[in-house]
Amino acid sequence: MRSFRAMTEPLRIVRCGVGTAGVAWLVDDDGRLRQLAAGPAWATATADLPAMLYPQAYPTIGDGDPFRATPLVVTHANGMLTTRLRVVNVDEADGHLDVVCRDELLVLTVTNHVRAHHDCDVVEQWVTIEHDEPGPITIADVDALCLQLMAAPDAEVCQFGGSGWADEWAWTTERLTPGTKLFDSYGGVQPHLQRSPVLLISPDGRSAETDVDLGVELDVEVAGTVLGLSIAWGGNTRFALDVRPLAGQESRSLRVRAGANSFAAPYVLDPGAVFRTPSVLWTWSTEGRGAVSDRFHRYTRAHALRDPGRTRAIVSNNWEATFFDFDEDRLRGLIERAAAVGAELFLLDDGWFGDRYPRDHDGQGLGDWMVDERKLPNGLAAVSAATIDAGLRFGIWVEPEMVNERSELYETHPEWVLRDARTPLEHRQQLLLDPLQPDVAAFIDGVVADAIAAGPGTSYVKWDANRPITDSGSSTLPADRQANVWTDLVWATWARMAAVAEAHPDVDLMLCASGGGRVDHGSLRWFHEFWTSDNTDPVTRVAMQWACSHFFPASAMAAHVTRWGERPMAFACAVALWGRFGIDLDLTALSDDDLAVVERAVVVAKRIRDVVQHGRLHRLVSPVDGPHAGRRAAVSYVSADRSRAVVLAYELEAGEREAAPDLLLRGLDPEATYDLVALPLTGDAASDVDVAGATGVRDGDALPWPLTEPLTASVLELTRRYRSHS
Ligand code: DGJ
Repeated sequence: MRSFRAMTEPLRIVRCGVGTAGVAWLVDDDGRLRQLAAGPAWATATADLPAMLYPQAYPTIGDGDPFRATPLVVTHANGMLTTRLRVVNVDEADGHLDVVCRDELLVLTVTNHVRAHHDCDVVEQWVTIEHDEPGPITIADVDALCLQLMAAPDAEVCQFGGSGWADEWAWTTERLTPGTKLFDSYGGVQPHLQRSPVLLISPDGRSAETDVDLGVELDVEVAGTVLGLSIAWGGNTRFALDVRPLAGQESRSLRVRAGANSFAAPYVLDPGAVFRTPSVLWTWSTEGRGAVSDRFHRYTRAHALRDPGRTRAIVSNNWEATFFDFDEDRLRGLIERAAAVGAELFLLDDGWFGDRYPRDHDGQGLGDWMVDERKLPNGLAAVSAATIDAGLRFGIWVEPEMVNERSELYETHPEWVLRDARTPLEHRQQLLLDPLQPDVAAFIDGVVADAIAAGPGTSYVKWDANRPITDSGSSTLPADRQANVWTDLVWATWARMAAVAEAHPDVDLMLCASGGGRVDHGSLRWFHEFWTSDNTDPVTRVAMQWACSHFFPASAMAAHVTRWGERPMAFACAVALWGRFGIDLDLTALSDDDLAVVERAVVVAKRIRDVVQHGRLHRLVSPVDGPHAGRRAAVSYVSADRSRAVVLAYELEAGEREAAPDLLLRGLDPEATYDLVALPLTGDAASDVDVAGATGVRDGDALPWPLTEPLTASVLELTRRYRSHS
């Protein structure tokens, strides 16, 4: 611990970062924390100007630029609204920096925490607040991160938000113009359904995918500078980008703030208690978006995903095949077929429970986690046994935080739901249980434990959540701090997820909230994967997976073949091969041709999945922007040792043949040649095509676009043949 009070140097510089991402801060003579650099200059920047000329690193009301929103707004115990923070201590070690600031008048401590993750080149920042004022304070607004940057006139931002259910991961890129742009989410439980808590900023103008693209002639100038950000928070989030013109300069000043969304959520904090913001993760690439993704994939594997090295099983889910309409015989039929096509895990979705209010539709039964004996007279045990006997693992769906009004649970415990004095609003005909209540917390843990126990051998649980917060109130909180519920609920839910993960270390957990409503780097820490979206129309899915792949690896991104969109089966399967492959089909009703395609796709999935799930992604042809938007897409994955690679190419719509792009092979061993085999999904192993022939292909080779017909796909496998210098 370094005490700045004791130090005599006029300018005191502290740094924390890794590679091209990091911050350099300095402490001015008055003890204010100022930002010397954020981004690549963090390691080398020197204080050449008087300290007062550098922007404040974490300004506050009453002590910052009065014309800009600040990352911290506090109402103090005595009613004062201003805060003036001065650095009192710095704790610095390899890869971590904690700067402790104290208010100059009041007993309030605010610590800026920075962690440099050397295993993935990602920086993590958060803030903690504690105080010993003579009564509670109210934190009206607090960000985890505040960066002061310069933005070119053509700086861009790319956001990932759609219209809601079945429209996650919509790609929108726009110019950053003067003013404040907010990217904020609401709803509390599934905010990411509307807007994913991730953002890409290209401060130097439109960014390229890779540094290779920087040299390629395009119709617009592209830059390599990309700042990727992710708010690791399972509740409402907010990015605020404030752009200000600078007198006499082309470039503009950009203040980036990020953290939990404080909308309607002022937090009352008692003396002695500690408030922690969520972490914001960020990285800074000078070589395009591809490097941002690579770093976030490495972060996800190293710090978020459970059992990241374990290759994921092929899941066969019954949801789209049966919805609520099944019985034991029907499930046995599906299990048998799932085993026959080579799936490895059967997942029984919603609809297996309820007694007085059987779960025949989503309007009743939620909360009554006793097996529906009409549908399953021999219990879950018979289904799990049939699954395991067929050689598959067994998985079960739960939605433990929710209850239908038409349920025995609600009749018994109406006081368990999240609400205030009004009659709570229904959403999907259900209400939200209040996890701040100890009995509810125990109930949630019990739902998962009992479901696992009821089906001996269960090794997978899909944890769903299908409604947002409407009635933000908790009987556990006093009247003056009801708004704390927006924050406390996230921590309480995470505590349940942590407890479940700890109690069932051998059970894989899937994170789902009406599709991708909870996909963030914070919630993911107790899960093995997430359900990317309920929208499985493969044409839409290609664009979603493209966007999602900017922050999450394929192993986390569950992708199932369904009949959404009624696309050709081979195309649907090829799109699912770009994620954790699974099936959500009525396998008992498929034509022989389609069944053969699914069977073949499972064989191909098993052959390529270790490369796709654990390999390095190279995005090749964008379906969301550029000349092929809406028409084509292609990606490749290269194994860590570069001995193998997989290329996935999709023709979405009919386009002009001559306009088709080349498939540029990237990231391969530059000293080797590779065998290149096409793996068609409409044949068997005998139909594999040796594309490269005797000469093989090399890194940097451009393959001609392999497709002509809309709704077709190509799966290519590359295997290193020899290394010329080995
Ligand atoms: C929403 C999920 O996204 C679906 O996959 C399915 O599990 C349903 N809930 C079940 O109610």
